[in-house]
Amino acid sequence: MPAVGIASGGRSKEYAGELTRYVMVTCIIAAMGGLIFGYDIGISGGVTSMDSFLNKFFPSVYRKKELDKSTNQYCQYDSQTLTMFTSSLYLAALMASIVAATVTRKFGRKLSMFFGGVLFCSGAIINGAASAVWMLILGRIFLGFGIGFSNQSVPLYLSEMAPSKFRGALNIGFQLSITLGILAANLLNYFFAKIKGGWGWRLSLGGAMVPALIITVGSLILPDTPNSMIERGQHEEAETQLRRIRGVDDVSEEFNDLVIASDESKKIEDPWRNLLQRKYRPQLCMAILIPFFQQLTGINVIMFYAPVLFNTIGFGSDASLISAVITGLVNVAATIVSMYGVDKWGRRKLFLEGGTQMLICQIVVAACIGAKFGLDGNADNLPKWYAIVVVVFICTYVAGFAWSWGPLGWLVPSEIFPLEIRSAAQSVNVSVNMIFTFIVAQVFLTMLCHLKFGLFIFFAFFVCVMSVFVYLFLPETKGIPIEEMSRVWKQHWYWKRFVTDEDYPNDGYEMSKPTIVNIV
Ligand code: BGC
Repeated sequence: MPAVGIASGGRSKEYAGELTRYVMVTCIIAAMGGLIFGYDIGISGGVTSMDSFLNKFFPSVYRKKELDKSTNQYCQYDSQTLTMFTSSLYLAALMASIVAATVTRKFGRKLSMFFGGVLFCSGAIINGAASAVWMLILGRIFLGFGIGFSNQSVPLYLSEMAPSKFRGALNIGFQLSITLGILAANLLNYFFAKIKGGWGWRLSLGGAMVPALIITVGSLILPDTPNSMIERGQHEEAETQLRRIRGVDDVSEEFNDLVIASDESKKIEDPWRNLLQRKYRPQLCMAILIPFFQQLTGINVIMFYAPVLFNTIGFGSDASLISAVITGLVNVAATIVSMYGVDKWGRRKLFLEGGTQMLICQIVVAACIGAKFGLDGNADNLPKWYAIVVVVFICTYVAGFAWSWGPLGWLVPSEIFPLEIRSAAQSVNVSVNMIFTFIVAQVFLTMLCHLKFGLFIFFAFFVCVMSVFVYLFLPETKGIPIEEMSRVWKQHWYWKRFVTDEDYPNDGYEMSKPTIVNIV
């Protein structure tokens, strides 16, 4: 049995400074960038279950659903155009995140956030005013561009601003606002669906302007991170800024380390090619596998299609939207648990506990749906207890995700990349996340139609694989300063073969002579 990971209480240096009010406020504003992503995730599932919306834009799906009451429930929503509506956004986000990598590196994190807000706002306007499917798709493409920019910059911004002891909690602010965005969208869908005349979906889609304006205005008032200022040659401003963030006068140690990291990163001509170097193999693998696994938990089946799914298993339209609100609430609450625990218990414990919880729930949900709907997808008279059991297990599954892969899927990549590859690697992370969000969104309804209840077993299999992966290959990163992270690879039983002593002298302490303290 290999020695797995590195001890979570590893020895690490700690810089001067505390969690100041200034840094808290800054991080809260920046984290709002997650709202636009979350609002969008929550809104699309709700509007696609609104009859007036379906009838206007996807009449064939509407007719099939209305007329074929007696046929196979698993297949009633199966339509490629309908899923294209949900998933087109993620392709756009994928492309935007590649452009955003350069903007984030050359012009700072703030400008990327600003672009994110403005593009998202334009998409919301086009969607709210849509009169044909092409307008819906065009609007979604703009929303996607917005998300590509903000998901690229916000997690990096948060990880760079935060003192290392609190980095986990502050970074999870991003995921918290994703979940708040989803919840707000679920609630609004519930109310807007009731509007007489059937135009409530316009408010749902146009409402995306509100979170977009918050992040646009927010990005104008936020300061840039010291790391990014140094990267762009503004040393004096960066030092003043660092003093302000950390709330102490002597920040020389951290400042010097940031300058060294930046000088190193300047030697790199092409950050993309650089990513392929052997010494960055661990980071590259994580940048690809973490978002891949995050999406293969199957979470977005619930997030996008909860109302559709609940409808499929026999809930009325209203009950389906309420159930989506319930899962939304659980999602927010469990994310708060993660914020509380991530810097105390560490990342690995949360990943492993969350994985086990999700696995059990997926098996139970598959068994419940399989027992009632069998293979032909027909069931009549679903008893109330049955509905309650399914909802309880889906909520427990969501809680498992929301304190593990949800927040950590954004936190861990943002804290493990050294400055010289940070923007490029983050854009690999965002792109892979978006590709697999796209694939899950695009094929879910077809998969449900063909795999039936086995769909949940499919995702359960991946949850098993990812938990074993974390156990064997993911080192603990709790409390380790971000510019010093390389040592975790050097001490890891497997990854150490990719990093040599020359890559990281001083046993992985790549910066000035550190003051060693124990982080418990
Ligand atoms: C994921 C999204 C997911 C959301 C749910 C995020 O971390 O990236 O795909 O919908 O969590 O809360």
